[in-house]
Amino acid sequence: MPSEESHIFHPHQAVVKQAYVSSLSQYQEMYKKSLENPEEFWGEIAKQFYWETPIDYKNFFRFNFDLSKGPIFNKWLDGATTNISYNLLDRNVRNGYGDKVAYYWEGNHPDDYSRLTYKKLLEEVCRFANVLKSRGVQKGDRVAIYMPMILEGVITLLACTRIGAIHSLIFAGFSSDSFAERILDCEARVIVTADGVWRGEKLLQLKTICDQAMAKCAKEGHNVETCVVVSHLERVTSPKGVSQQRQTNRTPMTEDRDIWWQDVVPQASTSCYPEWMQAEDPLFMLYTSGSTGKPKGVLHTTAGYLLYAATTFKYVFDYKPNDVYWCTADIGWITGHSYVVYGPLANAATSVLFEGTPFYPDNDRFWTVVDKYKVTQFYTAPTAIRALMKFDDHLVVRHDLSTLRVLGSVGEPINPEAWLWYYKLVGREKCSIVDTFWQTETGGHVLTTLPGAQPMKPGSAGFPFFGVQPVILDENGKEIKGEGEGYLVFSRPWPGLMRTLYGNHDRYELTYFSKFPGYYCTGDGAKRDADGYLWVTGRVDDMLNVSGHLMSTAEVESVLTEHPGVAEAAVVAKPHPVKGECLYCFITLTEAGKFDDKLLKELKTHVRERIGPFAQPDVIQNAPALPKTRSGKIMRRILRKIAVNDRNVGDVSTLADSSVVEQLFASRPVNI
Ligand code: WTA
Repeated sequence: MPSEESHIFHPHQAVVKQAYVSSLSQYQEMYKKSLENPEEFWGEIAKQFYWETPIDYKNFFRFNFDLSKGPIFNKWLDGATTNISYNLLDRNVRNGYGDKVAYYWEGNHPDDYSRLTYKKLLEEVCRFANVLKSRGVQKGDRVAIYMPMILEGVITLLACTRIGAIHSLIFAGFSSDSFAERILDCEARVIVTADGVWRGEKLLQLKTICDQAMAKCAKEGHNVETCVVVSHLERVTSPKGVSQQRQTNRTPMTEDRDIWWQDVVPQASTSCYPEWMQAEDPLFMLYTSGSTGKPKGVLHTTAGYLLYAATTFKYVFDYKPNDVYWCTADIGWITGHSYVVYGPLANAATSVLFEGTPFYPDNDRFWTVVDKYKVTQFYTAPTAIRALMKFDDHLVVRHDLSTLRVLGSVGEPINPEAWLWYYKLVGREKCSIVDTFWQTETGGHVLTTLPGAQPMKPGSAGFPFFGVQPVILDENGKEIKGEGEGYLVFSRPWPGLMRTLYGNHDRYELTYFSKFPGYYCTGDGAKRDADGYLWVTGRVDDMLNVSGHLMSTAEVESVLTEHPGVAEAAVVAKPHPVKGECLYCFITLTEAGKFDDKLLKELKTHVRERIGPFAQPDVIQNAPALPKTRSGKIMRRILRKIAVNDRNVGDVSTLADSSVVEQLFASRPVNI
């Protein structure tokens, strides 16, 4: 057994003493109940929330995971009605949390900060819900959101839920092309954005990107009716040395379509009767990359998602009423949805909402903010941890981080070295680390340790959360019991599992349920060690994970081949010390193509423009030919070996022309 599997850290007594789940046996008991009696387990949790039409316990949940028995479905609390914003806001205000801070907003510049109480958040949500209504938005309509990390982002999400509109956030790092593709797919009537945002010393002109995206949509015959723009740049401090002039560069507004948030919201009424939604009515959709290239609109519904986001938040972060919780994820990703917005608010939590980057104005910004707000739970990604590890320990040590109790990690496997740095330097060996494995599709954490219940192993995601039943399968679909490695699948749903892909149930069934009948297939590999700990080993499909951003090889390849100089492209992941993985691209030129600096620069820019800056390739190699099977399938397994210069390529007998491999080892890649 490799030594890392036997490396165990026990939760600190101070964490255990106050934890909701404070021993392995307590976890096991609760876990058993969650599987044997889901109605009772989730039913008790559901009682904390408000249901306009009560829950029918006889019809609590139903599902089919086996295509041979009919369409795949998964329904929870069907028949009950509720409203999410009512549960997150009105209910909390009624329970006496009206004056409690829901969010401390910390701007990109340390001079910019504000706060919002539950009562005020409710008022703002109602105001904006009324504005949306006045622009004709109705239950079931899609609202596309392209926002920075500002309070209006949270307000917009909740305003949508108030009136039953389906929000569709598009991470404000996606290019206008990617944005347009997503607006068209969900046929959004309304866009909500901001004029721009500072990220460190970089200015992102969000409205300009929206304009480009809307123009592209118009060409395809889809006209966005309303674009609400938050005037943000004027109210924040610009980085040193940047003139105010540049910052307030006037934002072009199209009459009738574009409106300033500040012109309409303050005048709107602060009360808005909630739309009572069916438990299985859509709540939101969120795009995630698909291995065929076209993004998938993962759809989550109302009641199940609420229960799951609320419960995972409470137990995984062990949130207590006086805690201050901070998740650094952008609201444009699922982590931002479940653990910046829905999970914390469902628990009447106080959170930090941070607009900036870990590196501005200095490389200790994270620790400054933890100290400033006395943060008790901190949740970030391995890529950020690895980036921060490079700096002098002094940057961490000089801050008072003694309030921290739980440290979370999400987005990709965390390497033990980063885990140990996080544990020792940030957590001072007193905090529990929760390595939370989950996906856009799963709605919330599915594998993790609980802070007071289980010893931790660096790099292992631990155990299943309540209600979740993981199974490891071999290539033939046979279950591997006990120790072993294979495909990570789930044999039954939990309340937060997605219901469908927006407008494409066939693709949903094909992508997640066809490989192994009867199971939801994650697309990740996992192994179980002798102690029952689960270790996620990474994607088993053609997906790349760069700094926690998932993208498909097909997506990047098709963009590269749009260039007239490129005939064919194959993209693989190469390990990267900070990003986890980076893009290594093999390109075969057309006759017109010339492998020179100009081409490389053009390709780099093209990928940034078509997908987004995070998809930019790190390495490009000229490949006169690619290793292919006789049937023409590119063997990425071999390309991955070439990318790391590992000559141990294994069996190449199925290749149409095995000399290609030697050729590729001999030629030099270019780092860009
Ligand atoms: C990967 C992010 C290992 C995994 C919440 C998954 C992880 C994909 C972990 C989903 C983790 C996420 N350990 N791998 N703790 N967390 N992943 O949809 O490959 O953006 O399938 O959701 O990220 O990425 P997504």
